[in-house]
Amino acid sequence: MKISIPKENRVGETRVAASPEVVKKFTAMGFEVTVESGAGQNSGFTDEIFKEAGAKIASDTKSTLSNADIIFKIQRLMTSNDEIDEISMCKKDAMVLAHMSALVSKKDSEEYAKASLTTFAMDLMPRITRAQSMDVLSSQSNLSGYQAVIKGASSFNSAFPMMMTAAGTVAPAKVFIMGVGVAGLQAIATAKRMGAIVTAYDVRAATKEQVESLGGKFLIVDEEAMKEAETSGGYAKEMTEEYKKKEQEVIKKHIKDQDIVITTALIPGRPAPKLVTAEMVNSMRTGSVVVDLAAEMGGNCELTKRNEIFDADGVKIVGFDNLPGELPKDASTLFAKNLLNFLSPHVNNETNKLELDWEDETVKNTLVTKGGSIVSEIVKGVS
Ligand code: NAI
Repeated sequence: MKISIPKENRVGETRVAASPEVVKKFTAMGFEVTVESGAGQNSGFTDEIFKEAGAKIASDTKSTLSNADIIFKIQRLMTSNDEIDEISMCKKDAMVLAHMSALVSKKDSEEYAKASLTTFAMDLMPRITRAQSMDVLSSQSNLSGYQAVIKGASSFNSAFPMMMTAAGTVAPAKVFIMGVGVAGLQAIATAKRMGAIVTAYDVRAATKEQVESLGGKFLIVDEEAMKEAETSGGYAKEMTEEYKKKEQEVIKKHIKDQDIVITTALIPGRPAPKLVTAEMVNSMRTGSVVVDLAAEMGGNCELTKRNEIFDADGVKIVGFDNLPGELPKDASTLFAKNLLNFLSPHVNNETNKLELDWEDETVKNTLVTKGGSIVSEIVKGVS
């Protein structure tokens, strides 16, 4: 069976859905792996390195995709509505694994169905222990959390750690993390390591202990309401209007004394909750920074401008939506490993063929299109 990894053609995408290690593993399992020339350049994976790992190198996207049985992508395939129609280059019934942003891109899924592609949205991986190693949201969010702190620190006009010098004492930076999922936890850990005083806030009750175990202080809004804030899938629910009002009051008081605010709050398939108002930004000191990791879903801060650093009267608001793409080597390596971990349990060691168990929870949950239609109930339900 042929696995192909094309270059990512979407503007600004630096990652690649393969690493030399993963190419080696798949070729050892009997797959023929083709990588588009230059696809790994930003990640430091040159054509030579991929060749040494056992891959064939194809000269362009068309020749990479046209013979593939299985396609690995970071972002979903481009359609005739985009600058390059990648779908038209694929074989009928080819299998595509990608971060599909499936809950916000139903139109594209309809195109994949029309082209009779079998698509898997890695972003719909169930949050079960067995699937942790296959979870692209986790592997990429972890890097986002780290990079958000680095971005915050480099945009800030002071240092992070307390420094006692002969010329005087430098106060430690105060960092406030909003949303304590995978990205938020890594942001807390990174900011602590850099010497900041860290506080954090989330609607899910389970996060309080996690924040404290990393040495952060948890900001409580309403302990009772927090107990009901988590879905069985581990995600946050949308909170009531009454809760949101209370939340605003508590955050407003806290935020005016913070140097760096990192927001990561998301609700799957919904616009990001607005947690930081223009008034709150106004109350922050000149030189402070807000890093909004929810920019792609509309932002947690009212003033965020997607993919820009916006100067709001001296407070910088950083709204980049592909922070893992700023660390392409690590991001590509982890993403590729997620794909390997997803597929390898389904490879028959004797025939060296992929024999997917369609009843497996990880397969069932991530499958979006097959046999000419959208089969994912969750994607079908998106309006
Ligand atoms: P996410 O990216 O969907 O959201 C980020 C954070 O924002 C979440 O912690 C959420 O509770 C929080 N949030 C939502 N609305 C908020 C509001 N109004 N105010 C403050 N915070 C708000 O979440 P992520 O990072 O994907 O993780 C969600 C959960 O899933 C976590 O408990 C994580 O540990 C768990 N998880 C489990 C995995 C597994 O078992 N396979 C893999 C990855 C994560």
